[in-house]
Amino acid sequence: MSEKTRYALITGASSGIGECFARALARRRRNLVLVARSAEKLQTLAAELSQSHQVAAIPLVVDLAESGAASRVHETLKQQQIEIDLLVNNAGIGAQGEFWNVPLDRQARIIQLNIQALVELSALLVPPMVQRREGAIINVSSTASFQPLPYSSVYAASKAFVTGFSTGIAEELRPYKVKVVTLCPGTTRTQFFDSGGYGPRRFRGGYQEPEKVAQAGLQALDRGGGLVLSRPLDRCLIFIERFLPRRWIAQGAAGLFKP
Ligand SMILES: NC(=O)c1ccc[n+]([C@@H]2O[C@H](COP(=O)([O-])OP(=O)(O)OC[C@H]3O[C@@H](n4cnc5c(N)ncnc54)[C@H](OP(=O)(O)O)[C@@H]3O)[C@@H](O)[C@H]2O)c1
Repeated sequence: MSEKTRYALITGASSGIGECFARALARRRRNLVLVARSAEKLQTLAAELSQSHQVAAIPLVVDLAESGAASRVHETLKQQQIEIDLLVNNAGIGAQGEFWNVPLDRQARIIQLNIQALVELSALLVPPMVQRREGAIINVSSTASFQPLPYSSVYAASKAFVTGFSTGIAEELRPYKVKVVTLCPGTTRTQFFDSGGYGPRRFRGGYQEPEKVAQAGLQALDRGGGLVLSRPLDRCLIFIERFLPRRWIAQGAAGLFKP
């Protein structure tokens, strides 16, 4: 595989943590495939990164919450003879509210994007990495994956899936030298809360900057992979929560997330 045909693919690259991954990887002189729905944002970012870092940056406008989207991405990559040696499964959405009041279509899109697209892209892009005995995946999960999150129950459950899936396949892929990072940010200053209808709210420990989250993910990749909580405070809280009854944790979270 030549340097020219090797690319990193980032889902949800048009804003927040995904955009920070794109910028950080361009600084490392990586060619990029940038995936999201916002065509204009992707095109502007791709043009900026390819010009300032002399890398190839390809915008790919796809709604990953639509069924069959991952296969269409895979087909486009094959047609353009692009080989992916780093997959950053970052795109994700949430929704706030009592689960029976959140429209079923929104819940289905959370599951389709956060789970289905992530599994399908991994399944389609990993086999060549296994064959080459080289490659990596960064799965962006969440601290929400370790606990119930009332009023965001489907989101937290989707991230519990991501952490379980990602730490599981890490062991399956280890013998083939394919690295897996399971990145679990806490509250981060992005558009996530606005687009999920959470409204303005305060969180313990405030907000992390998305650049720091992406940096923690890439540092973990440099170390060979693993499960990463990007903020020290979250490492302490998640450790303590292991020893508390799950119901207490759910009650505490309900107080924070109640609409
Ligand atoms: N912010 C936090 O506090 C926080 C904490 C823990 C984990 N996370 C996780 O971090 C990841 C990134 O989120 P963020 O915080 O950076 O939020 P963000 O700024 O809202 O970014 C979300 C990205 O996903 C893309 N996206 C949304 N729906 C999509 C779809 N149907 N198809 C393709 N792309 C789609 C968005 O682009 P388009 O709208 O252009 O499609 C955007 O680029 C998510 O997996 C989230 O669960 C965030």
